[in-house]
Amino acid sequence: MPVITPRIEHLVDDRPSKRPKIPLDTVPRYSWRQLLLSRYHACWYHFGERLAWSRGPYRERPAEQLHNLSGIQQERMASLRRRFRVRFEQRVEQITALKQYDYLDILDQAWSAWKLPHSTGGVVQDIGSSNFWYAAVLHAFFRPTKMVGIEVEGHRMYINGYSRLDYAHGYIQDLPNTEFVVGDYACYKRPADVVTAWYPFVTPDPVLAWRMPLSVLAPRTVFSQIARNLRPHGLFIMVNQGREEAAIAAAWCEKVGLMRYGSCEVMATLRSRLPAVASWWMLSQA
Ligand SMILES: C[S@@+](CC[C@H](N)C(=O)[O-])C[C@H]1O[C@@H](n2cnc3c(N)ncnc32)[C@H](O)[C@@H]1O
Repeated sequence: MPVITPRIEHLVDDRPSKRPKIPLDTVPRYSWRQLLLSRYHACWYHFGERLAWSRGPYRERPAEQLHNLSGIQQERMASLRRRFRVRFEQRVEQITALKQYDYLDILDQAWSAWKLPHSTGGVVQDIGSSNFWYAAVLHAFFRPTKMVGIEVEGHRMYINGYSRLDYAHGYIQDLPNTEFVVGDYACYKRPADVVTAWYPFVTPDPVLAWRMPLSVLAPRTVFSQIARNLRPHGLFIMVNQGREEAAIAAAWCEKVGLMRYGSCEVMATLRSRLPAVASWWMLSQA
């Protein structure tokens, strides 16, 4: 990967001096409701882990054509298709294809806002990939020589009896040099040129909303591992939900020795969702 010369460009002005003080070091206090829910989710999480059930790769039925799109959606998708040479609907259902175009749109909008050169190759790691439904997006955007999605709850089962791992194997089947690893990123020790994190957990409510135990809320260990895995000129790309979450995540990144070079709020053009705040980081001493 070519070396990127960083230039600081914040389109979301939440520099440390502008942010409310975020107490990262205090022991979190949870309500009884949160603790009970966490216990409940922990039972299912450990059950899934022990069972490690698999029915084999799950492949979605391709939509082939996307329906009920507005003129703006069609125009934006046509541009993404042309520039990234993708046609997600030939591999997945309409709903997944729409989500994939949306993630590609977020990366594309952020990259042009930051005026980052579009480099390809290198090792890309994605943290907390769920079932890695967006693997094709990262592959199209970064054109990596190797890509890996790491998900701590990869054995979660769906109502149809397939697991996240089964879905992930289906999504990555046609992507060269791509793997999906079930495990905790805090224990994943491999060098990376690019690390991506889409909506990493930094506050308790999203953890519980994702039906996970609060024990997985460990931003310090996860962000520290990013800083250890990143190669000297490697990039960390983070997407958060809204400015408040982005500010908390930013405080953690700074604490573990990462430096932010750009951030921006990406508006939704393809599907309705809360505004995403994207930011890019490198090691402070790079
Ligand atoms: C908010 S979800 C986002 C999922 C996915 N990135 C997306 O955009 O659809 C966060 C994900 O991170 C996973 N996760 C949390 N902590 C993790 C860790 N330490 N290592 C790997 N995955 C983790 C969770 O299980 C969950 O699937």
